[in-house]
Amino acid sequence: MKQARHSLYKWLDERLDLTEILAFARKKTVPVHRRSFWYYWGGLSLFFFLVQALTGTLLLIYYRPGPEAYESVRQITYEIDFGWLIRSIHSWAANLMIFAVMTHMFSVFFMKAYRKPRELGWWSGLGLLGLALFFGFSGYLLPMDELSYFATKVGLEIPALIPWVGPKAAALLRGGVDVSAVTTQRFFALHAAVLPALFVPLLAFHLWLVQKHGNAVPPSEELKPPEQRRSIPFFPDFALKDLAMWLIALNLLVLLAAMFPQGLGQPADPLAPAPQGIHPEWYFMSSFQTLKMFGKWFPGTAGEALGLIVFNLGLAIWALIPLYDNKRAWGLRARIASYIGLAALALLVLTTVWGYLALD
Ligand code: HEM
Repeated sequence: MKQARHSLYKWLDERLDLTEILAFARKKTVPVHRRSFWYYWGGLSLFFFLVQALTGTLLLIYYRPGPEAYESVRQITYEIDFGWLIRSIHSWAANLMIFAVMTHMFSVFFMKAYRKPRELGWWSGLGLLGLALFFGFSGYLLPMDELSYFATKVGLEIPALIPWVGPKAAALLRGGVDVSAVTTQRFFALHAAVLPALFVPLLAFHLWLVQKHGNAVPPSEELKPPEQRRSIPFFPDFALKDLAMWLIALNLLVLLAAMFPQGLGQPADPLAPAPQGIHPEWYFMSSFQTLKMFGKWFPGTAGEALGLIVFNLGLAIWALIPLYDNKRAWGLRARIASYIGLAALALLVLTTVWGYLALD
């Protein structure tokens, strides 16, 4: 047996240079310091994405976009063996993935890991976050129940606020003047084909950058003399720790999915009045509440348009931070950038909580 394994390894090694790949993986090291815990969050985001790809493929077997969308999700949930579990895992992993990606983004931010030469890591990461949010938005409609129908209807009113292109883009996404069975077909194409086709190569680029530059250390570590810095090999030491985190994440995920299964409301009825308290998923709550407040403070569409401008300005500052805070260690710019990060985090949390409290 051992002999066979050895010959197989030798056969593959002669063709794929496995020894070289392993040596490369062993050469990479991961810094060890007080804040090393935050290095797990990129890996956790990756784990949840892999779960999404696997469970999404299984759901694909039974889901039917179009007029039968609701009925196919009803069958998955109540008739197909373990269908409810796969669906519930897919929905919980979507939420946990976005939570992990956001945690990863803020930890990268506060460790200042966006500084030279990691600017492209920051921007490709922002692209991945944008795509992850789009995955969430397009997936939410697919069951076509009452809540998903009305939440998507409200959600699509936001891009429609952008002058000229907005209404056209919203109509293109809807496939008409209103959300309908046609919309589920378009959202399904986006969710299961277009977004993965964009996400996977961008993710490969992101991971390649990490492999190339290694993990950044926070400024407090950078100030230490090299002999006081510690690190461990990525393979097998850090990879095993990553794996342990993945197992913990898997446990949490299955527990949540089994104990709080994803429900299915009444089929969407465009003629019925919108049910009370229609709101988007938690990760859109902050932008939803911000726009709502601007709409209240400045009545008419001007308020919401102003809200959109302010929101996009904030986003632009966030994206351009690597160009501003680009010096070593702790200068004035570094401190200002950290305050911007704290303000962004506080605003995100406050407007999200406010959004839930303000629901009628
Ligand atoms: C699905 C989305 C994402 C996945 C799967 C992912 C995955 C990873 C992984 C595995 C790492 C290496 C381990 C680590 O440092 O945590 C990493 C590093 C990094 N990520 Fe992401 N990431 C994602 C989104 C983001 C976002 C939203 C940002 C920021 C806007 C970002 C910026 C970075 C940067 C700058 C690094 C280098 C960190 C360092 O050098 O320590 N990533 N990412």
